[in-house]
Amino acid sequence: MDALEWLLFLCIYSKVTQIAELSWTADVPNEVKGLLGSCVVIPCSYNYPDPQGKAKSFTGIWMTTEGDRVIYHPTQSKIVKQYQSRTKLLEDASSKNCSLMIEKLQQNDRGPFYFRIEIEGYDRASYRKNKVSISVMGEPNPTDFSVQEEVKEGQTVSASCSVSHSCPTYPPDFHWSHPGVQHFQAQKLQNGQWNSTSTLTFRSNRTDHNKSLQCRVTYHEGKHQETSKTIQVKYAPVNVKVEYQSDMNEGETAHLKCSSDANPVSSYEWHSEAGALLNKGQTYTMSNVSRHSEAVYCTAVNEEGRVRSSTVKLNVLYAPDIKSSSKCFSERGKVMCECIVESRPPSMLHFVLGDRVVQNSKVQTVGSVTTGTLQTDFGSFKFVHCLANNTLGNANLTLSLPLVDNMQNIFIASGAGVIFLIVLIATGVGVVKKWGRSGETPTSDLGIMKAERSVELHHYAPTKRKEDRKDMSCSDIYANDHVYGNVGISNDFINNSFIMCMHKQSE
Ligand SMILES: *[C@@H]1O[C@H](CO)[C@@H](O)[C@H](O)[C@H]1NC(C)=O
Ligand SMILES: *[C@@H]1O[C@H](CO)[C@@H](O)[C@H](O)[C@H]1NC(C)=O
Ligand SMILES: *[C@@H]1O[C@H](CO)[C@@H](O)[C@H](O)[C@H]1NC(C)=O
Ligand SMILES: *[C@@H]1O[C@H](CO)[C@@H](O)[C@H](O)[C@H]1NC(C)=O
Ligand SMILES: *[C@@H]1O[C@H](CO)[C@@H](O)[C@H](O)[C@H]1NC(C)=O
Ligand SMILES: *[C@@H]1O[C@H](CO)[C@@H](O)[C@H](O)[C@H]1NC(C)=O
Ligand SMILES: *[C@@H]1O[C@H](CO)[C@@H](O)[C@H](O)[C@H]1NC(C)=O
Repeated sequence: MDALEWLLFLCIYSKVTQIAELSWTADVPNEVKGLLGSCVVIPCSYNYPDPQGKAKSFTGIWMTTEGDRVIYHPTQSKIVKQYQSRTKLLEDASSKNCSLMIEKLQQNDRGPFYFRIEIEGYDRASYRKNKVSISVMGEPNPTDFSVQEEVKEGQTVSASCSVSHSCPTYPPDFHWSHPGVQHFQAQKLQNGQWNSTSTLTFRSNRTDHNKSLQCRVTYHEGKHQETSKTIQVKYAPVNVKVEYQSDMNEGETAHLKCSSDANPVSSYEWHSEAGALLNKGQTYTMSNVSRHSEAVYCTAVNEEGRVRSSTVKLNVLYAPDIKSSSKCFSERGKVMCECIVESRPPSMLHFVLGDRVVQNSKVQTVGSVTTGTLQTDFGSFKFVHCLANNTLGNANLTLSLPLVDNMQNIFIASGAGVIFLIVLIATGVGVVKKWGRSGETPTSDLGIMKAERSVELHHYAPTKRKEDRKDMSCSDIYANDHVYGNVGISNDFINNSFIMCMHKQSE
């Protein structure tokens, strides 16, 4: 062999050994962190020279470097007790993937370990140089929790929670304390570590303000970890309301306070119902309140908005005040009295005729105004009294009864009156003629009108009524309903009485 041949041989030989050495390789990390009690996966890949069809079956084995104890073998019985039923190859050994999973990791599962392959009908190899240790951790790695801690109401909150672990077969489970859309993501890191991330997105709401958002991570076989952050949600004022003592007496001082729920805290403004700015600040003092005191409202203001309270009107209490528009009047022949009272609380109303309380015909209350209506037989009274009282006091007003239409009133009051009126006019004309001859009474219809007025005057002299009964006074005729109500009474009697009256009154 010459020098050249020798060199060529060397060159070829080294190439072959290089290829052979490269072929029997394994790739494992030096160290894998694992969580006590959980599972750990040792990532592993290996290689072997091409068996050129000689390979029949593959047996992947894992062993400890110290004492060569079998920690994994497809035949369970060959595994040392400590690791039995806790170890597993994740892929078929022929796939050149020798990743090993150890479950329920124990404190002394530290290793180091190495992989061995036995290829039936070809060769076998132990990758002793490629050893891996397990660093057993008592507690999981801290959770990386991130969230935008301050948001405006309605904005989307995006929170993410991520942990690193070494058990990709059973990744940790994430649980959020708030509903929302969840998204899970796993990312491979180095040395058998994985990054698992859960993101939660939801629309922020004021009800979330100052609440803690919690992310709970549960690892395979139970260990868990919780992290939380408080979220600040900015929102415009809500529940803007005025607190005040409702019932007050006139002249008292009212203290009004506005409150609201807002973030950041509201400032306040007070306005009259008409819109005039009254005060700035959470409270407003109204001195010397009266029934005329204006309604007010408050406005809560923060950087997110301005919100008005409802309008507040104090319920100022006062004694009855009988309005001067109260009156008695005649309408279509009927006399009616109307008494209008303003008070708070609403008053009780009575009419007093002489010394007798008469029942109201109608009482109506609208707000602070109470109107009592009386329609009755007023007899010969000239006045009626209206009395009003509430819890704060009382008032009275004397109303004059009208002097008109009484005659008409009486006639219309009875059906017989109409008939009688006709008879009256008919006979009256005759009477006038008779009297006309003697020259003592005025002629024509004028006489009747005069008589009517005189009768009314009598009507307002009640004391005389009783004594005059015997000689049938005019007031009896016109005032006493019974005379007209009794249809059976003789026409002659009425006629004569009337004649008498006319005679008497015209004097
Ligand atoms: C080996 O198998 C595991 C589990 O299926 C897998 O996660 C890993 O990526 C594989 N390794 C390679 C190098 O393909
Ligand atoms: C906040 O939540 C309440 C009740 O859950 C809901 O009525 C309201 O519309 C929500 N507001 C926003 C801005 O989502
Ligand atoms: C895990 O992944 C997430 C999302 O890709 C990233 O924000 C986070 O920083 C990663 N954590 C680690 C420990 O690598
Ligand atoms: C937030 O909550 C804490 C307790 O959970 C409480 O002390 C604090 O007053 C709250 N702050 C606001 C602005 O609501
Ligand atoms: C209170 O108001 C009334 C009218 O509403 C007024 O007559 C009175 O003088 C006021 N009193 C005080 C002390 O201001
Ligand atoms: C008004 O006075 C009468 C009699 O004194 C009494 O019974 C009634 O309760 C009073 N009404 C009110 C509203 O105070
Ligand atoms: C009517 O009011 C006056 C004072 O305005 C009072 O003196 C009188 O007693 C009152 N009369 C009745 C019947 O209440």
